[in-house]
Amino acid sequence: MLQNPERYTITAALPYTNGPIHIGHLAGVYVPADIYSRYLRLQGRDVLFVCGSDEHGVAISMKAKKEGITPQEVIDKYDGIIRKSFSDFGIAFDNYSRTSLPVHHETASDFFKKLYDNGDFIEEVTEQLYDAKANQFLADRFVTGTCPKCGNEEAYGDQCEKCGSTLNATDLINPKSTITGETPVSKSTKHWFLPLDRYDAFLREWILEGHKNDWKPNVYGQVKSWIDGGLEPRAVTRDLDWGIDVPVEGAEGKKLYVWFDAPIGYISSTKEWAAREGKDWEPYWKNENTKLVHFIGKDNIVFHCVIFPAMLKAEGSFILPDNVPANEFLNLEGNKLSTSKNWAVWLHEYLEEFPDQQDVLRYALTSNAPETKDNDFTWKDFQARNNNELVAIFGNFINRVVVLTNKYYNGIVPAPNEFTEVDEQTLAELQAYPEVISSSLERYRFREALGEMMNAARLGNKYLADEEPWKVIKDNPERVQTQMYVALQIAAALSSLCEPFLPFTATKLKRILNVTSSAVEMSWKSISESTDLLAAGHQIGQAELLFAKIEDEAIQKQIDKLEATKTANQAENKKAEPQKDLIQYEDFAKMDLRVGTIIEAEKMPKANKLLVLKVDTGIDVRTIVSGIAESFKPEDIVGKRVTVLVNLAPRALRGVESQGMILMTNNAEGKLVFVNPDAEGVMNGETIN
Ligand code: 2FM
Ligand code: ZN
Repeated sequence: MLQNPERYTITAALPYTNGPIHIGHLAGVYVPADIYSRYLRLQGRDVLFVCGSDEHGVAISMKAKKEGITPQEVIDKYDGIIRKSFSDFGIAFDNYSRTSLPVHHETASDFFKKLYDNGDFIEEVTEQLYDAKANQFLADRFVTGTCPKCGNEEAYGDQCEKCGSTLNATDLINPKSTITGETPVSKSTKHWFLPLDRYDAFLREWILEGHKNDWKPNVYGQVKSWIDGGLEPRAVTRDLDWGIDVPVEGAEGKKLYVWFDAPIGYISSTKEWAAREGKDWEPYWKNENTKLVHFIGKDNIVFHCVIFPAMLKAEGSFILPDNVPANEFLNLEGNKLSTSKNWAVWLHEYLEEFPDQQDVLRYALTSNAPETKDNDFTWKDFQARNNNELVAIFGNFINRVVVLTNKYYNGIVPAPNEFTEVDEQTLAELQAYPEVISSSLERYRFREALGEMMNAARLGNKYLADEEPWKVIKDNPERVQTQMYVALQIAAALSSLCEPFLPFTATKLKRILNVTSSAVEMSWKSISESTDLLAAGHQIGQAELLFAKIEDEAIQKQIDKLEATKTANQAENKKAEPQKDLIQYEDFAKMDLRVGTIIEAEKMPKANKLLVLKVDTGIDVRTIVSGIAESFKPEDIVGKRVTVLVNLAPRALRGVESQGMILMTNNAEGKLVFVNPDAEGVMNGETIN
């Protein structure tokens, strides 16, 4: 682990531009990366935080096929949405690039060429999966099948998302083309392979020995099992029509594998930034005193810890990542987040539905970050985090301090009198927070760090609750001056301590405290060194609510939205039952189907499922026993018009003779509903044919 680096290069996984950003991406990658970068900048470090859109690969081509548009249209659309939502959400990248830009094509091409010229690839003709109907080789997401390692039946041709294994398409059991659904055939084709086996010793020494203690156990464990499983050559080119051309002779029509070019995107994003800012990009990638940190989700671990480092090692002039603090997955209301199933909270929609509440989502996602295991996001938890923590603790403290300062001193920080032991202890505790929070952040423990920041707010709340200046003011106004002075120092410290986690709140709080111009004095260093952050005589502003309570209706609206998605998915996935054997018209004509009305309904005693109905069939009023008691209350169906099979031979159910059958079906949610003849003017007894 590099101590005291001269500079930091921080990368966040380049999102595929085949869909918008959702809370899983945010919790896993972008929020922690942003917290870390903001924290380092606050310490005055030289930080470069880069990202960009990942615009190649099968994910894009598939989306284009599905939507009937070109890949270029797909990437333009989602790059726009993603870029705007990141910016509105306050993810403070120094640069957000695109892998479709010339600077990236050039950088990736040159990288490949250099390895090719060095003889770092194996060139080989092998049998690959081919979809004869689509006239297309199948790799990566163009093919699914059963994972040979864990049995997951929905593994992709390059990766199993269930067990995290990186696969070759030919490893899949029962492969199927995702383009046509066909079983692929085998066809030979030439490709270039990166012989990962040659890097076994290097990877063992660098990661398994060198990073045993500072990489997260989930990351280390996954890398170890991959290396121990035996590294094999991996194809870095593809037979595709969307991507970066393979820049060597004899490779016409072939493209670079998206996982070869995407991580190079971090480098091209750096180059784009440097050109714009008039800086030199090289120290950020080539100087040994630069700390390179990749923020990614767990499905990206092998690419960032094994394949990309092997590429960097082969190239020879680049530094390697100091850490790859990958997170586990975030689920939503108990189910896996899914772009294709629309099971997600989309960032751009959240920003529209909860305007100016970016920090609430940042807070909820960090408090519940999937750092060591998969976690679940629920809307109820989101509401509770806001109402019980941000509003009740942080917001409440600030509001009290600002209101009382305005009330007692016209908003001017009072001069303190003699400090009591409690005052001194409180200020000493406050001074310890920068160090405590830093220590968690330096170890990539973002939830813990956020918890400590909130403890600083709790300290303020407790101080005011214990000291009760609103009572003391009557008899001892001199004492209140000191109390308010102490409370104001805590408020001032919070305006800086919260910045990495809650940047919008920090800006607002600084405005309320009127310290926007003294941001430098409010550095974390000054918080731990000085107890005079807001000097006596400083004028603060008026009270504004830092956080607003989120009402039940707003949460219910979100829950209903997810319910609607569930219903739509169920309807889409519902497979119609196969058709029964053919019958002749004479068979059908034997059935006497009539329109009727339920005129009485009651529960069959001691039977959960049965209702005893009296039905006016137009011929007579008869008893029908129906197994619908779990779906309908008797009082709700009296008067209901129904379709009745009247010539079904009578049958005794629990001693009651049932003289016919009411026709039922299921709706999209799987609930029983009547086959409904409720058209205007239709009379009971009308036949159905
Ligand atoms: O998994 C993904 O969404 C990829 N687009 C991440 C790429 S990270 C990097 F290497 F570019
Ligand atoms: Zn698997």
